[in-house]
Amino acid sequence: MIKVKIGVIGGSGIYKIAGVDTTEISVSTEYGEVTVYAAIVGDREVFFLARHGKGHSVPPHRVNYRGNIMALKTLGVERVIATNAVGSLNPEIGPGTVVLVDQFLDFTKSRPVTFFEGPEVVHTDMTYPYCPQMIDVAYSLRAPFPIRKGGVMVVTEGPRFESAAEVKAFRLLGGDVVGMTSVPEVVLAREAGMCYMSLAIVSNFAAGLQGAVTHDEVLEIMDKLNRDVQMFLLELIRAIPSEKTCPCPRDSKPIGR
Ligand code: HPA
Repeated sequence: MIKVKIGVIGGSGIYKIAGVDTTEISVSTEYGEVTVYAAIVGDREVFFLARHGKGHSVPPHRVNYRGNIMALKTLGVERVIATNAVGSLNPEIGPGTVVLVDQFLDFTKSRPVTFFEGPEVVHTDMTYPYCPQMIDVAYSLRAPFPIRKGGVMVVTEGPRFESAAEVKAFRLLGGDVVGMTSVPEVVLAREAGMCYMSLAIVSNFAAGLQGAVTHDEVLEIMDKLNRDVQMFLLELIRAIPSEKTCPCPRDSKPIGR
């Protein structure tokens, strides 16, 4: 019997879970059709989607965040595990590390940020955006890479990388890593009453800390980590308990039903 439905949103370099048979399904939402790959892992039903589309064809500022989250909600998903490629702002966090981020700083500019565009006005609590129970479970597992519990993810608009001055400023603000995709994804998941966590995969030191940053360099390290991240994802999917003990708000608004 299926006890838990888990959504997995794969970012740069993570487009599937190795060794898991999937069935491609198309979910129709008011934000468009979304392709999802369904799989059974033990007593879990897993719905996997590639955030940037097949072959990385959608840039961060044009991802259909609302469609993706709505599709997972429509499928009955209650917990979402996301992967995000990030640059490190913190000299103590080197490439190859996975950070279980627990906070964000939002520097995005042009994306749809909510399911509630009016006339209903909703101000969603975002004090603790990432699910602490899921973070605890992930941290309790044996990981094949350095893993760090907690961290502040700065989210930029992209698709360009940062200037060295921006990186300096983000460090002063308390950022640990910088990426382009966690917001609005985590926000929309919360609006939809789903728990959400991110494996922030450090691919490089951010601009100015190591010189220039290139997308090829990001993809190269993501490629190297790919298998380990997929194996870890699989373990995490198996380890997440069916019962929620987190304080994350539940289903405060009827979205996608
Ligand atoms: N900045 C923003 N996004 C990123 C980076 C970076 O340095 N590396 C991978 N994604």
